Amino acid sequence: MTQDEMKQAVARAAVEYVKGGIIGVGTGSTANYFIDELAKVKSRIDGAVASSEATAKRLKSHGIEVLDLNSVGGMEVYVDGADEITRNFHMIKGGGGALTREKIVAACARYFICVADQTKLVDVLGKFPLPVEVIPMARSYVARELVRLGGQPRLREGFTTDNGNVILDVHGLNILDPVALESEINQIAGVVTNGLFARRPADVLLLGTEHGVETCK
Ligand code: 5RP
Repeated sequence: MTQDEMKQAVARAAVEYVKGGIIGVGTGSTANYFIDELAKVKSRIDGAVASSEATAKRLKSHGIEVLDLNSVGGMEVYVDGADEITRNFHMIKGGGGALTREKIVAACARYFICVADQTKLVDVLGKFPLPVEVIPMARSYVARELVRLGGQPRLREGFTTDNGNVILDVHGLNILDPVALESEINQIAGVVTNGLFARRPADVLLLGTEHGVETCK
């Protein structure tokens, strides 16, 4: 199975968790496969909350109603990919730059279902550079603080988030305590959020492997 076939397989498996109501939808290539599968059962749901403008556009292109998060009380499931995930379901996210909205939508969902192929499973987070969304005027200050924490931040050139901010990708971190680091980075003035999803980890991991989809709970 190719990596894309594994992504499609986990997307199909995630649809099994869609029982009705409003669905939170993540961002990225795996989430895109999920949207394509969700379209096949769209009559079953009341609409979706999107974690990015790109996801909203794809949902709408399939005729799925996109709802404002402020107009919904919450949702049963949020389905999204990850750049890295551990067996404790701690993740690095934000490779696509949508981390802030992803974290907000995930916070409103009862179940976070992570859909990922086997290349994303790691023992320790940090090989994938940690994305940090930053208010533009704070870029240099935040970068200095991230160096103090042992990282090597690099500005994601030519990229602006859906919220009008910049991303610093932090290389060289060996993240042994993701819960503590998530909080510490979020305390730096000018940080909007960082791509560690550890304080609110996934609840279920649908892992695409060469032998099929492994469900990890
Ligand atoms: C976007 C994300 C994505 O979930 C993450 O980058 C994984 O993407 P893909 O499914 O394309 O590998 O966090 O901000």
